[in-house]
Formats: sequence, C-alpha cells, structure tokens
Amino acid sequence: RTNTGWMECRHDIGTFAPGLLSIYESLKPSEDHMSKQSRLIDSLTKSVSKEWPNAQLHLYGSCANSFGTSHSDVDVCLEIDIGTGSEVELLLRLAEILRGDNFDSVEAITSARVPIVRMLDAGSGFSCDICINNLLAVANTKLLKDYAQIDGRLLQLASIVKHWAKLRGVNETYRGTLSSYAYVLMCISFLQLREPKILPCLQALEPTYTMVVDDIECVYFDEVHQLRDFGAENKETIAELLWAFFHYWAFQHDYRKDVISIRMGKIISKKEKNWTTRIGNDRHLICIEDPFETGHDLGRIVDRQTIRIIREEFERAAVMLQHDDDPCSTLFEPY
Ligand code: GTP
Ligand code: MG
Repeated sequence: RTNTGWMECRHDIGTFAPGLLSIYESLKPSEDHMSKQSRLIDSLTKSVSKEWPNAQLHLYGSCANSFGTSHSDVDVCLEIDIGTGSEVELLLRLAEILRGDNFDSVEAITSARVPIVRMLDAGSGFSCDICINNLLAVANTKLLKDYAQIDGRLLQLASIVKHWAKLRGVNETYRGTLSSYAYVLMCISFLQLREPKILPCLQALEPTYTMVVDDIECVYFDEVHQLRDFGAENKETIAELLWAFFHYWAFQHDYRKDVISIRMGKIISKKEKNWTTRIGNDRHLICIEDPFETGHDLGRIVDRQTIRIIREEFERAAVMLQHDDDPCSTLFEPY
C-alpha cells in the first residue's frame, strides 16, 4: 500500500465502515430542517428588500456548501452597495430592521474580524449570522460545493471529521483551534493526495468559472459532472480514509515545513510562502492555504498551546482507530 507511512493499517479496518456511514447519515440535515431553513431565508429576504430593493442575499458556509449538519448555523451574506456610509452603520440599521420584523435576539457584532448581525430564529431554533459583502466566502462556498459533487467520500470524511472536531473541542477559532472551513480544506487536500487520487485539483484544470472579488480572481473548472468517475480507481472506504487522515495529521505531516494547498493540489513549502517566521500574531504552526486568498493561512490563529492540543487529538484519533475494539464510539467521546 502507499500513503500509509510506517504504520500498517489494521487488517479489520473495513469492519468499521458501516458504523461510520451511519454516523454520517445521522448528521445529514433532515427535510424538515431544510424547509425551515428556506422559510427563514424567505422572511429575511422580505425584510431586507423592503429597505434595500437592490440588495441581494447569498447563503454561504455549511448551509450552502453541502457540508452542513442539523447543528450548523445559517450563514448569510448581504451584497449591497454601501455608497458613502459605513459597514458598521449598515449593520446597525439591519439589526434595527430585523428587530422591527420580530426576529429574536438580534445583535450587531461590529468588533469581530468579520462584523456581523447575529440573531436567533425562534421558529426554527437556528442561529443566523449575516455579514456584508463577504463575497470571497460566497466564492469558496461554491468551490467546496463543487468538490463535494465529485466523490461522495469527501462529504463522508469531512462530515465525520467536523463532528469529531466539535465533540473534541478543536473547532473553536476564538480559542485558537481550527474552523470548520479549515477542516474541509484539510479533507479535500488529503483526498487530492491519495494514490490513486480521489479528487482532482479544480484550480489546475482549464477554467470554466470566473468571479473577481476585491481584485482576487476566483477561477477554476466547475463542470464537475464531467468528473464523477474521477476517483473510481481508488477503492478505499470511509474507514480506511478516516484512519489514514488522522494518521497523516498525527504522524506524517511535516509541521515545520509543509503547507497544504488545495489550489495546487499538493503540499507546498512554508519557505515559498514566507510563512517560516511569526509575523504579528500569525504563527503559522499549522499551515492551510486559502484557495483564493492565497496570502491567508487558515491556521494562523493556532498558537503554541493549541497546536499541542490539536496534534494530541489527531494522535488520539489515529491510535483509537488503530487499536480500539469500538472506535466508532470512543473516537467521538466529548472531551
Ligand atoms: P459549520 O457552521 O461548523 O457547520 O461550518 P461552516 O462551513 O459554516 O464554517 P464556518 O461557520 O466556520 O464558516 C462559514 C464560511 O465562512 C466558510 O464556509 C467559508 O466560506 C467562510 N470562512 C470561514 N473562515 C474563513 C476564513 O478564515 N477565510 C475565508 N476566506 N473564509 C472563511
Ligand atoms: Mg457556519
């Protein structure tokens, strides 16, 4: 076998595939969930267009990239011409409008890196974040969604990894661990590097889609229906892939030198990105390149202490999948 490094995968790993698949199935949002979500979007659209007829609402994040679960929040981007006003003023006005239309617990969070209005929809119980003109997030949402359509194993792997990260407390950016978005990029990169490959590198193929946002060209091949058989030669099951994913991040990834890049479809070096030393608060202890904002390291928020926690969690997961009798339950024990 290739790609498994010095540790051989246990011979009975395949027996855990059904258990993992049923976890994956249980995470998928229900029909009811989806219809509540669209009702929420409809009422939001009504409120917004009364005030700003030319504004547009886009869904982004896991409610639109297909990596959502029944626990995911709803991420919405308001595309609007700000004119001479400020983004903060606009957010405050938006909060006022939503309160007026009887949305609950509406709060403008203007000091965050990405300022938002957060609210709770009492009808559905959803938490909903609205940001302004964050069109890069809309573009990367489409990229992730397109990758998800190529091989079903990406959705399985990423959903399980996200679920694991939430339960193990390593999916909290405000505490210095990684975002869901970062974990999905790690899964895409991992599947691009399998032998035989399970995913292609869409940004290395002839472009069929272009969107320019803030001078950044988001271009890639998006006719993914043509790539449905891409990974067919690789027969690995979700159990083998999950094992290999944790094994890779626990024992094989070179944290000193490597950057994962789904844009290039391969590992690149910290040196070529100039990510070898700490600049400001960006420590680059685990490097995950954003596919469009290439100067942006999704691992930048990780510090000396949290890198240790994250790596210990990868090791714990790898060891459990290697040795436990019932890894499908122990792996997900809340920390
Ligand atoms: P869950 O809500 O945990 O299900 O996952 P999510 O995919 O919605 O992730 P999250 O709420 O962390 O982020 C929402 C979206 O914001 C992501 O899908 C990305 O499109 C975008 N995003 C998040 N973090 C970053 C970032 O650091 N850089 C960029 N460019 N986009 C980001
Ligand atoms: Mg989200």
